Amino acid sequence: MSAAKTHILIIGGDGDLAIRKLYPALFSLETAGEFGQVERITGLSRSAKDRDVILNAVNTRLTDSGQFNADSWDTFTGKLNFLTGDATDPDDLRAFGDSINLENTELVVYFAIPPKVFEGVCLAMQAAGLVVPTTRVVVEKPLGTSCNSFEEIHKHMDGIFDESQVYRIDHYLGKESVQNLLTLRFANVIFSSIWNSDHIDSVQITVAETVGVEDRHEFYDEVGALRDMVQNHLLQILCLIALDPPANKNADTIRSEKLKVIQSLKPITLDEINAKTVRGQYASGTADGELAPGYQDEIGREKESRTETFVAIKAEIDNWRWAGVPFYLRTGKRLSSRCAEIVIQFKKPKHSIFAEQSVTLPGNSLHIRLQPDDGVQLRFLNKQPGLGELPLEELDLNLQEPDANRKHSFDAYARLLLEVLRGDQTLFVSSDEVVASWKWIDQIRANWEIASSKAHPYSAGTDGPSQAVVLIARDNREWSELSR
Ligand code: BG6
Repeated sequence: MSAAKTHILIIGGDGDLAIRKLYPALFSLETAGEFGQVERITGLSRSAKDRDVILNAVNTRLTDSGQFNADSWDTFTGKLNFLTGDATDPDDLRAFGDSINLENTELVVYFAIPPKVFEGVCLAMQAAGLVVPTTRVVVEKPLGTSCNSFEEIHKHMDGIFDESQVYRIDHYLGKESVQNLLTLRFANVIFSSIWNSDHIDSVQITVAETVGVEDRHEFYDEVGALRDMVQNHLLQILCLIALDPPANKNADTIRSEKLKVIQSLKPITLDEINAKTVRGQYASGTADGELAPGYQDEIGREKESRTETFVAIKAEIDNWRWAGVPFYLRTGKRLSSRCAEIVIQFKKPKHSIFAEQSVTLPGNSLHIRLQPDDGVQLRFLNKQPGLGELPLEELDLNLQEPDANRKHSFDAYARLLLEVLRGDQTLFVSSDEVVASWKWIDQIRANWEIASSKAHPYSAGTDGPSQAVVLIARDNREWSELSR
């Protein structure tokens, strides 16, 4: 870590992202003593809310989540200041630049703004002399809605910043269990030696939410679940499960192995589109014990929307390690429970010595839970103690118990912001990865369009449309139960 002091500039400093996520995350780093190098945080916005209004909102958020700590509050707020200004105006940025000494200060600039203003901000930063080799910029989704639109955004940044200066956040990469995937796989020979198509039957990645689209419907209706969740979060998880052993833990090495995985995803052709993908849209029902409106009512549009709020996909990776192993991806809103889980289903034993007892042996499975709490369980078979005739029982071995003390203090943003401060890009997505994942997604969308694919209705509070069950049942498999 460099000894230089760091100044964090948050553009969009009075917005929702800054108040709900960024200031609380930075506060938790202060509390954890990880913030020594940060001298100042500036929230820049066109019409800055009153300082007290912003601080009260952050304070409430921290108190509600049990993270407030009176001892750190004064130190933290002492580092915070708010500026009114236009980040696309070089003069406004120059005024900010004059207040810091870039020779002795590392500048981290968080773009908490829509991508359509990235170009203006990048140009203004350059004109104001804020782009020096130590400058880092942090951006996050939506990074385009297709490969072309991402490339449009990227081209504006690419001419001004080197790839090593751009930190593209996917907040799922900051989740404890997602970070643990590399350790689980590459620090334990019992897993690394069987992590391939010889031993693994299939993989499931589920991200289920109980919330609907609520006040984000304008954005959501334009994108749908495939682009909102699969293009980024689910594919990033898939990469960490599927990547080949990297030679070391360097960011470039890991990111290039992830890229190879995305580039090996088999395109889903027009002939296969209806068998390998299912789109769904929630209708009214009961969610969290209360009546929930259907998607169409929630977005309040006269014209019927065809946007999917649920998607299930059978993805395949065309390489040596994963040939013949399907990766079933599933995500949706207004489902029966909030749960994100990866299930690695191992193959059944080749030969059963228990056949006489008519016992069908299920394969072992590894369950890696991301939320609501994190944990790892190995499901295996054990002899039932006692004199009973059926000797086997399925048991869950907790390899990592949910631990309230360990997980409470850092949310994904805090972990990721710390990595930005450390200058480590391992947990950030490279532009090549974004391009490759958009290409795979774009093809699915194009084929949906040609096939006039329908979003099948499902009642709020259920596990999605029945067509998703059919998708996996065709392969004689079933979805893992959404944990309640
Ligand atoms: C965001 C999506 O990226 O992730 C949202 O835009 C979704 O639609 C959210 O609700 C889910 O994140 P988490 O961390 O709550 O699972």
